[in-house]
Amino acid sequence: MGLYGQQVVPRIMNLLCGVKALAPLRSRVCAGLSGEVIELGFGSGLNVPFYPSGVTRVAAVEPSDVGWKLASQRVAASAVPVTRSGLDGQSLPFPDNSYDAVLSTWTMCTVPDVSAALSELRRVLKPGGELHFLEHGLAPDENVRRWQRRLDPLQQRLAGGCHFTRPIVDLVKAAGFTISEVDVFYEPGPKVAGADSLGIAISP
Ligand SMILES: C[S@@+](CC[C@H](N)C(=O)[O-])C[C@H]1O[C@@H](n2cnc3c(N)ncnc32)[C@H](O)[C@@H]1O
Repeated sequence: MGLYGQQVVPRIMNLLCGVKALAPLRSRVCAGLSGEVIELGFGSGLNVPFYPSGVTRVAAVEPSDVGWKLASQRVAASAVPVTRSGLDGQSLPFPDNSYDAVLSTWTMCTVPDVSAALSELRRVLKPGGELHFLEHGLAPDENVRRWQRRLDPLQQRLAGGCHFTRPIVDLVKAAGFTISEVDVFYEPGPKVAGADSLGIAISP
């Protein structure tokens, strides 16, 4: 990864993903998390203020050193202990059946092999463990999908490997999770980023 990906993208993501308008969505996806939690693609820690009191510990999985540094004040202020415990969701350094829940927000678009990451999450979650996800991906409408396919290569270059066209709910199901609830909706603004899927999936 070049200088742009290492130094610039994490700062842009911290600004774009940190807008106040997203706070209600972060609050919704974090609701009900409890116990020992993995946060996949921790970024600059923008979910930290929304962890419910039932969360006892968070293992942050984040490859970007800049993202982790940008998170430092939020981590220091957190009532929940947060440790950077992994660098790559595709290969997690945790034992099987060891976590109660996973949180992933706007990250499955970017992990290079998202199916490998989902399979790892399944492995490390306890049976019945919850995957709380809030992800953008392939839109439900064909006219939007056409634009997503056209702009996907540019998006990948500008946004650190982010894809517009991933069918998030299908990928989660294909990894063996059962969807217990999901809400699919467009955020205000251009629809090309796709529809958000906000939901909970259960590990078998
Ligand atoms: C758009 S940002 C979202 C950050 C954060 N989840 C949020 O909601 O603000 C995508 C994040 O995925 C992380 N990421 C990319 N590849 C990853 C991988 N293989 N494993 C874990 N995280 C990864 C990036 O470093 C970045 O922090």
